[in-house]
Amino acid sequence: MNHADGELIVRRIGRLVTHAGRPVNGSAAVLIRSGRVAWTGAERDLPAGVPALPEVDAGGGCVLPGFVDPHTHLVWAGGRRDEFVARLAGERYDGGGIRGTVAATVAASDAELLGLARGRVAAMVANGTTTVEVKTGYGLDPAAELRLLGLVAELAAVVPARVQATFLAHVVPDGVDRAAHVAALAGALPAAAAAGASWCDVFCDRGAFSLAETAVLLRAAAAAGLGTRLHAEQLACTGAAALAAEHGCASADHLDLVDPAGARAMAAAGVVGVLLPTATLSTRGHAWDAARTLRAAGVTLALGTDCNPGTSWCESMPYAMQLACLLLGLSVDQAVRAATAGGAAALRLADVGHLGVGARGDLVVLAADHEADLVAHLGARPARRTVIGGEPAGGVA
Ligand code: NIG
Ligand code: FE
Repeated sequence: MNHADGELIVRRIGRLVTHAGRPVNGSAAVLIRSGRVAWTGAERDLPAGVPALPEVDAGGGCVLPGFVDPHTHLVWAGGRRDEFVARLAGERYDGGGIRGTVAATVAASDAELLGLARGRVAAMVANGTTTVEVKTGYGLDPAAELRLLGLVAELAAVVPARVQATFLAHVVPDGVDRAAHVAALAGALPAAAAAGASWCDVFCDRGAFSLAETAVLLRAAAAAGLGTRLHAEQLACTGAAALAAEHGCASADHLDLVDPAGARAMAAAGVVGVLLPTATLSTRGHAWDAARTLRAAGVTLALGTDCNPGTSWCESMPYAMQLACLLLGLSVDQAVRAATAGGAAALRLADVGHLGVGARGDLVVLAADHEADLVAHLGARPARRTVIGGEPAGGVA
């Protein structure tokens, strides 16, 4: 969509958090010109001579930079109800259910997949998300993954949120030679870059791709001009976090079982740690030490939803923030930063995740007057209004 021409004043903000200076309490305002933040501050200090512009009345609500969700798998068809119910009865998640989603996704029409993904993005925007990374991964063979990538490009053109596309090497299909599959995926990466992918991700874990297979794919991705990121240390601690560091990945994600050595390697290489607590909860992983291990090593943290049908059926960054505080041990401020600036760092985007002058005019008006209430009020509707590029894009006001 055209994100460039929004002209807007957001008034009567009870508390404004920009991450570019201290929060402003009282009646604050944000001025957005041509889709970018032009001014923020106390409303009484609004520059003279601003022409009449469309207005959003924040009604005393708290305003944060829009949420940046750096990890989703939201192009899928079908569901995984039986697997979820079995997990409640004690069965362990091992990634086996991915194949069922692949069958349903491959069988679905383009229009059906696009409609489903579009609805999920609409739910995300209503929850305050303004930038979202979207992975392929439910096609498996290269042609099927490239088809999904084409749908991500179509999605990007019709949703208000900013979309970053990722080609995901998810698992090896049954009955296929592993080395041949890795070679075929590597061979498809130039086409993925041409089809609009910014990133290549590999599920490097027990039951998915090995460290050696992942290294082949990371080298091919770099040669194709793609940025790289990894699914790492989710089901087993394999050394994937250190591999991400060795290859200069922008992020390593999940990290439930990351060890201090992996965390230190990430910190030294500037790899952002993307935490996905809704996946830990839904898989009943019970591993809640990752944030402490990563923070002790000095890793920059981000939060995502991991939105997918198997391990994290969730379109809500506020819910991820609640789990990050209550189960991973982040403070409210750390969770807000991880959900905004952290996601932007994971996607290497300089102009989202904060509301400094020149940033994109992407913000969320909370249905609460302080960000701590966003975290404390469990199960509540989090956002009154979402603004993307200076255009009201979601919410109920
Ligand atoms: O991020 N871990 C691998 N991939 C997804 C889940 C995929 C699925 O089970 O459908 C995840 O958790
Ligand atoms: Fe994931």
